[in-house]
Amino acid sequence: MVADIARVLYHESTILSRLDEMAHQITSDYADKELTVVSILNGSFIFMADLLRRVPLPLQIDSWSVSSYHGTKSRGQIQFRQQTIADVRGRHVLLLDDILDSGLTLRAIQERLATESGAASIRSCVLLRKSVTRETAIDADYIGFDIPNEFVVGYGLDYNEQYRNLPYIGVLKEEAIRRHAR
Ligand code: IMP
Ligand code: MG
Repeated sequence: MVADIARVLYHESTILSRLDEMAHQITSDYADKELTVVSILNGSFIFMADLLRRVPLPLQIDSWSVSSYHGTKSRGQIQFRQQTIADVRGRHVLLLDDILDSGLTLRAIQERLATESGAASIRSCVLLRKSVTRETAIDADYIGFDIPNEFVVGYGLDYNEQYRNLPYIGVLKEEAIRRHAR
């Protein structure tokens, strides 16, 4: 598994220091608000766990299972794997996702929330933001790291469901991409 990584972008200690800063900001921004954090699975499960343990607010958590990717290219449409979403009427929603790439996933989720949920506000927080020309005018409100346009894995991020358990974020070797290609 480690042999498939071309180079490490962020070690766990670097990620956790950045999460301290992000958590501090989120804690002050939502100090007197009713907050529900909606995390997008599977990619954000480690990010969610590490970030939210640093946010000492009485928040609620919901997780959505969504898929948008096949291999290393966004399919441009997302599938919601569940029919119902938590009741967030009047609450402030913070979406958590692992990475902002084309932006199609975040846009679709924000649109569904905006039309169906009655939330008081909807903002988003991503661990990584890729420097690409996004297919849709969307940005996140909280960003962990800006990264180059390369395919990364680890710390929750996968390639065909592998590598999520790597404790760091690394660039996947081209040969590993070819080997796992379906
Ligand atoms: P978007 O809809 O193109 O913004 O894609 C967002 C989703 O694609 C993320 O939640 C990830 O699951 C996946 N994704 C995008 N880029 C990468 C990457 O470099 N590595 C792993 N997954 C990625
Ligand atoms: Mg994925």
